[in-house]
Amino acid sequence: MYFSHTALESQESPIRKFHPYAVRAKAAGKTVYHLNIGQPDIETPPAYLDALHHFDEQVLSYAPSPGIPMLIDAIRDYYSGIGVPLNAEDVLITTGGSEALALVMACILNEGDEIITPEPYYTNYATFALQRGAVIRPIKSSPEEGYHYAEKEKLEQALTDKTRAILLTNPGNPCGTVLTRAEMDMIADFVRTHDLWLIADEVYREFVYDGEELTSFGQLSGLEDRLILIDSVSKRFSACGARIGCIISKNKELIAHALKFCQARLSVATIDQVLAAELYRSTTQEYFETVRKEYQKRRDIVMKKLKEIPGVVCECPNGAFYIMAKLPVDDAGKFLVFLLEEFEDHGETVMFAPGRGFYATPGMGVSEIRIAYVLKEADLARAMDLLALGIEAYNKK
Ligand SMILES: Cc1ncc(COP(=O)(O)O)c(C=O)c1O
Repeated sequence: MYFSHTALESQESPIRKFHPYAVRAKAAGKTVYHLNIGQPDIETPPAYLDALHHFDEQVLSYAPSPGIPMLIDAIRDYYSGIGVPLNAEDVLITTGGSEALALVMACILNEGDEIITPEPYYTNYATFALQRGAVIRPIKSSPEEGYHYAEKEKLEQALTDKTRAILLTNPGNPCGTVLTRAEMDMIADFVRTHDLWLIADEVYREFVYDGEELTSFGQLSGLEDRLILIDSVSKRFSACGARIGCIISKNKELIAHALKFCQARLSVATIDQVLAAELYRSTTQEYFETVRKEYQKRRDIVMKKLKEIPGVVCECPNGAFYIMAKLPVDDAGKFLVFLLEEFEDHGETVMFAPGRGFYATPGMGVSEIRIAYVLKEADLARAMDLLALGIEAYNKK
C-alpha cells in the first residue's frame, strides 16, 4: 500500500524501540532495571485520584477546545507564582506537551523550513518537525564539553535563511543542562536579532538542583511576540498518564492559528483536565522541594557510580532527571542488546536509552547513553552496578 514520506522517514523512538528485548528478557526470568524512560516512580499527589472519586457530572461532555477555564485559571495562578502573569487567552490546553509541540510546529513551519535545537535533543522533536516537512538543524555539543551549547557562535553556525525557530528544552532532556540567566538573555537577543520564534519546552522546570534558580523564558521581557512556552503536568506532578499539557504565548495570531487545530481535534479529555486543575490547585511548594531533594540524591548516586567506571565521560548536570554519558563501549545500541540478551548478574540486568537516536548528525552519540534516574535509591545503585559489570563483560567478549 501507499505510505507518506513522513511515515517512511520517521524513526522509531530510541527510548521505546528496545522494549521487545526487555519483554523477552523478562519472559526468560530476568529482572530488568529501567533507566531508559522518563517515567518517574514518585507518587502522583493524592489530590489527583481524590478529585476523580469526586467527579460527579452525569454526562461526560466535550470540553471547550481551548481547555476548561478552571484548569486554565489554575495554570495562570501557578505562572503568576513564578513571576509570569498570563491572561486566559494566552493558554491552550493540549493532550500533553507532545500535542503542544506538534500543534506549534503545525502553526509555524512549512515544507523545507528549519528549526535550530541543541543536539542531543528530545527525539520526538525530529518526528514532529518531519511531519511538517521541516528539519532540525542541530547546535553541536559534546560529552567532553558537558553538553553545553549556549554560545552565540554555535547558534550562528546553525542559522540559515530557512531557520524559523529555536527550540530549547530547559532544563534539558537528555542532558540535564540548565541555562544560566546570561545564556537565556543571549538566546533572547539572538531570536530578536534574527526574527525567529523561541519555543521553550519547560516541562522539567521544577527540577533544578544545587540551589539553581527556577527560571522560565516567560520571565524575560521583550520576547512577548515571539515566545512560545510548552508545558505539561507529566513530570511536574509525576502524572505522565494524565496527558495534560499546554501551549502558552502572548502572540495572539499564534494562539488563533493553534486554536483552529484545537477545534479540529475537538477537545482534550474532560476528566483529565478537571483532575489536572486539582493538581495545580492543591500541590504545595513543599511537595516540589521534597521531590527536588529526592531527584538530587538520585543524581548524586548515578554520578558517583559513573565516576567509578573507568573510561566514562560525563559532567554532572543540574537539572531534569537525566544524565547523558559516553561509555567505554564501541556501540551503546549493541551493548544494550547484549545486556538484555546475554548478560545477567544474579538474574538481573539493566536498560538505558542509547544515545545515537538523540542526534540528527550521522555518526554522533554512538557510545553515549541516556540514564533516567527515576528509580528509588537502592534500585538505582544496583542498576548502576549492573551497568559497570555489564561494561566489563561486554568488553571481554
Ligand atoms: C522535553 C520533553 N518535552 C515534552 C515531553 C512530552 O511530555 P508529555 O506529552 O507527557 O507532556 C517530554 C516527555 O518526555 C519531554 O521529555
